[in-house]
Amino acid sequence: MKSAHPAPLAIVAAMQQELQALLHSLDNVTGKVTIERHAGRNFHLGELHGRPVVLVLSRIGKVAAAITATMLIERYGVQQMIFTGVAGGLGPAHVGDVVVARELLQHDMDASPLFPRHEVPLSGRARFPTDPALADALAQAAAHVLADPLRAFGAEARALGVTAPRLHQGLILSGDRFVATAPESRALIERLPDALAVEMEGAALAQVCHDCGVPFAVLRTISDRADDSAHVDFMQFIEVVAARASAAIVGTWLQAHP
Ligand code: ADE
Repeated sequence: MKSAHPAPLAIVAAMQQELQALLHSLDNVTGKVTIERHAGRNFHLGELHGRPVVLVLSRIGKVAAAITATMLIERYGVQQMIFTGVAGGLGPAHVGDVVVARELLQHDMDASPLFPRHEVPLSGRARFPTDPALADALAQAAAHVLADPLRAFGAEARALGVTAPRLHQGLILSGDRFVATAPESRALIERLPDALAVEMEGAALAQVCHDCGVPFAVLRTISDRADDSAHVDFMQFIEVVAARASAAIVGTWLQAHP
């Protein structure tokens, strides 16, 4: 059944902490938020910078992301989708950096020998491109925010090792595994040398949006190096750095594109 509150733009994250700052803006700016609960998810409907939006937690993993994306399109008539949150950094992407995806790939998809490794069977593709205009605009907003990290994240971010965060654009990998060993991340880089980050949802959302013709983008803050290196408190990092990065970048983008 369709909702009585259509929202052309959806902003999705896997975890509550990742969406917290944006949910807070939704409450504060408009003071009017409708929450609809379907399939165990809370769909938060309101306005951000004058734009009707729906904010929702997908939960973690590719299936959870695919269910959420499909519901957003079918139930809310969403015409643009942004996924945001954290990812493990590969190659040049270090903790605190931001990655705007240009392509997404499911690194655990393997129907070989029937189809080439990573190809989504019967789709003819392994890599799903993000919408160029949306990715351009988010990258521009990210560059603006990262130019003044102290303002964007506050002094607490320094204590978490974030001093001069950089912006990267390119391939993000998704799979139903939290990558937390050096051999595993090395294997990913050897197989897919241009990969910048690994997470657990983006490529699933990409496949749904591709099939349904909905422009989408993925914006990730690097929270760890996808290896066994000791890292600052993961949840604290999300709240202090990643959630603020998402809110600042999406806010900057919305203000520039009312
Ligand atoms: N999200 C954040 N870090 C991740 C990692 N190392 N692997 C998968 N998903 C992640």
